[in-house]
Amino acid sequence: MLVTRDGYDIDDDPARLDMDVVHGFLASSYWAEGVTRDVVERSVAGSLNLGLYHGESQVGFTRAVTDRATFAWVCDVFVLSGHRGRGLGHWMVRTLLAHPDLTGIRRFMLATADAHQVYADCGFVPLDDPDRYMAIRHSPRELYGLLRLRTR
Ligand SMILES: CC(C)(COP(=O)(O)OP(=O)(O)OC[C@H]1O[C@@H](n2cnc3c(N)ncnc32)[C@H](O)[C@@H]1OP(=O)(O)O)[C@@H](O)C(=O)NCCC(=O)NCCS
Repeated sequence: MLVTRDGYDIDDDPARLDMDVVHGFLASSYWAEGVTRDVVERSVAGSLNLGLYHGESQVGFTRAVTDRATFAWVCDVFVLSGHRGRGLGHWMVRTLLAHPDLTGIRRFMLATADAHQVYADCGFVPLDDPDRYMAIRHSPRELYGLLRLRTR
């Protein structure tokens, strides 16, 4: 799948991803701080990925963790700072939701600290039954050894 607008492409070809850009951004993000290259590569291998490109350069990314039949978890959404505020984040999320592999999905979910409006504009609503959901969480700092490194 390849869509184009105003000199930008969104492409689902994993071979086109610039893993230096994807890993570079995620390793300094608030949700995956310190993530290793190996973990990013395995997450991409197990996901439906969209890269956002300006010419030859990758400037954004998102992926869905999905069974491609019933459920999709949307995550790792970013647009590099020089390209923000032009509607690209919305376009990327909307393109992911409309991807042919996600036709008929019953539930899309995501978590965000502060970008609620972007997702609300794309149709997401807060959970109306949060008491039904549970999670096991491991902090990136614990997982990727940042605490250990910093206290040495
Ligand atoms: C969130 C993000 C992907 C939006 O990308 P973008 O291309 O700037 O998004 P758009 O241009 O489509 O939309 C921007 C609009 O979303 C709003 N918005 C809401 N929450 C936002 C947030 N946390 N960051 C940026 N914009 C946000 C902006 O205020 C702006 O509104 P406006 O058009 O009325 O001014 C981008 O800012 C980003 O990569 N942020 C850092 C990574 C991040 O926080 N990702 C989301 C993780 S859940």
